[in-house]
Amino acid sequence: MMKNKIARTFEEYYRIYRESVQDPEGFWSEIANSFEWRKPWDKVLEWDFMKPEVQWFIGGKLNITENCLDRHLKQKGDQTAIIWEPNDPKQPSLHISYKELHVRVCQFANALKNNGIEKGDRVCIYMPMVPELAVAVLACARIGAVHSVVFAGFSSRSLSERINDSTCKMVVTSDGGYRGDKILRLKDIVDEALLECPSVEKCIVLERTGESIEMEDGRDIWWDDAMEGMTDFCEPEIMDSEDLLFILYTSGSTGKPKGMVHTCGGYMVYTTYTFLNTFQYKPNEVYWCTADIGWITGHSYIVYGPLCAGATTMMFEGVPSWPDLGRFWETVDKHKVNIFYTAPTAIRALQKADPALVEKHDLDSLRVLGTVGEPINEEAWHWYHDKIGKGNCPVVDTWWQTETGGFMISPIAGLTPTKPAFATLPMPGVQLAIMDQDGKEEKGNVVEGRLCIKFPWPSMARTIYGDHKRFYDTYFSGFSKKYFTGDGCRRDEEGYYRITGRVDDVIIVAGHNLGTAEIENAIDEHENVCETAVVGFPHDIKGNAIYAFVNTYHKPKDEEALKGEILDLVSRIVGPIAKPEKIMFVSGLPKTRSGKIMRRILRKVAEGNTQDLGDISTLLNPDIVEELIDENIR
Ligand code: WT7
Repeated sequence: MMKNKIARTFEEYYRIYRESVQDPEGFWSEIANSFEWRKPWDKVLEWDFMKPEVQWFIGGKLNITENCLDRHLKQKGDQTAIIWEPNDPKQPSLHISYKELHVRVCQFANALKNNGIEKGDRVCIYMPMVPELAVAVLACARIGAVHSVVFAGFSSRSLSERINDSTCKMVVTSDGGYRGDKILRLKDIVDEALLECPSVEKCIVLERTGESIEMEDGRDIWWDDAMEGMTDFCEPEIMDSEDLLFILYTSGSTGKPKGMVHTCGGYMVYTTYTFLNTFQYKPNEVYWCTADIGWITGHSYIVYGPLCAGATTMMFEGVPSWPDLGRFWETVDKHKVNIFYTAPTAIRALQKADPALVEKHDLDSLRVLGTVGEPINEEAWHWYHDKIGKGNCPVVDTWWQTETGGFMISPIAGLTPTKPAFATLPMPGVQLAIMDQDGKEEKGNVVEGRLCIKFPWPSMARTIYGDHKRFYDTYFSGFSKKYFTGDGCRRDEEGYYRITGRVDDVIIVAGHNLGTAEIENAIDEHENVCETAVVGFPHDIKGNAIYAFVNTYHKPKDEEALKGEILDLVSRIVGPIAKPEKIMFVSGLPKTRSGKIMRRILRKVAEGNTQDLGDISTLLNPDIVEELIDENIR
């Protein structure tokens, strides 16, 4: 049973952890036994990190939506599954019960079928944070279609690239979305993207803003029309444990985004277990994760984990800063939120706001606070703990990735003694290794190095869609027989882990994972730009911001105008989130002899730390460094 794998004391955590390492298969099959399977698995685990190949619950048959919905109907049919809080606090919020959600998911699943979607087809979902987004996700899972949710802040170019990479047959979108006082015209973006997407046959469009949009005959269908006459039950497609559940794109350090593939059985077991264990969720509590369903956090810990656990999960359409910076706290009180899970970038922004915006709210319902997305600085941790949690709520700093599917390192709420900025200890079943420069595991306690994982866990990504070689190269080639996370990490005398940030070319800006290559490509499209290198530098609110070093063909006549054009390009091609905070025009970039850009030096310049540039003698063009330093001072 899952129950006795959920720790209730800190000692119990250690006991459970040890058990999970000594007998992983016994451990995970006991947990998996508390789910509904149409057919039990024949074998728990098969793996080989050299290939890499990982399979869990082999031969097991299930449908994840039966676990998220059907099995709760008897006991919890009338309990709220989703609380929806709209962008505008003056508009009514919605409470959707498990019964209602089940009906809506079944109806939309039937609508998908009716529009030609079958098991295995890819469906792209590009929607604002409205309940229909969760419905669309679950409806795909109901019929075995593979969803690919694209965050509705991405540009048409990013959207079409993702649609084409996995040859989606359908797009589900809305006319638009509200974000604070702005309206996003999502359907316009989809229309532009679809000019380049030959695989898309149908586009279902939810009406949200009511603004006028184009509807293309034969391709576009209104959501309400698609739902018309659909019956309220849809027989779930029986899936194999290892059938695809979804694809979710994450930025890579080179080239195009990586379509991470997650499969049904292991993902379900792991997200549900970690949700219950980490937050110590109790029946009837209200849980609010502020992420967007466009990111893995929303997939695993707004939709699948909480719903499989029979929890009440909240979806928030708006932004933390509108109508004012007190919106989160007002909403916590309004819905008596017990567990609140957000990102350091939001915490830092709210910390800078007028304290009265916090103080005028009770926040008494809060029991657990969570953070995710990037290392949380100590100052923000203390503010969150003291001012929001009033010193009574454990802060769970959950370290994980799109690729891991679920929490990897995190305190267990109320049990693990916390330490600011430490993600603390591995979840049961997670076997970590810190590797040194030479690729050897550092066995001692107080060590620093690259963070790897040396044993499979059920929710790990199985491949990169359409590119298994890239999956191997990115994650399994650096350290033999280990999954390399891309993060640096320290372990202290207590065995606690502190994540020190990315060691590759991914920059995390305000919790969004951006590939340097994507942004560089965009800037390079300008006719006067010959080459660009982008690095991150520390930023008070966003954690990191982007610094672009741009090598132009001709010395720009009007630097400000060119900067404006570059910002527009990045906005249009990658999305506004990727806009550089600073741009420097240079006559060349520091390069190694093999032609690789020396980002290490650019990072130092961006940080304003030009005293300590390290060895520059191996550079092809050492003179350029002086120019960078002079420009930076200027
Ligand atoms: C990268 C993964 C997992 C959901 C959101 C991001 C960084 C994530 C933490 C944390 C320090 C963190 C890592 C990781 N990260 N959580 N608690 N402490 N760093 O998912 O977009 O796949 O990004 O986010 O660098 O590798 P993602």
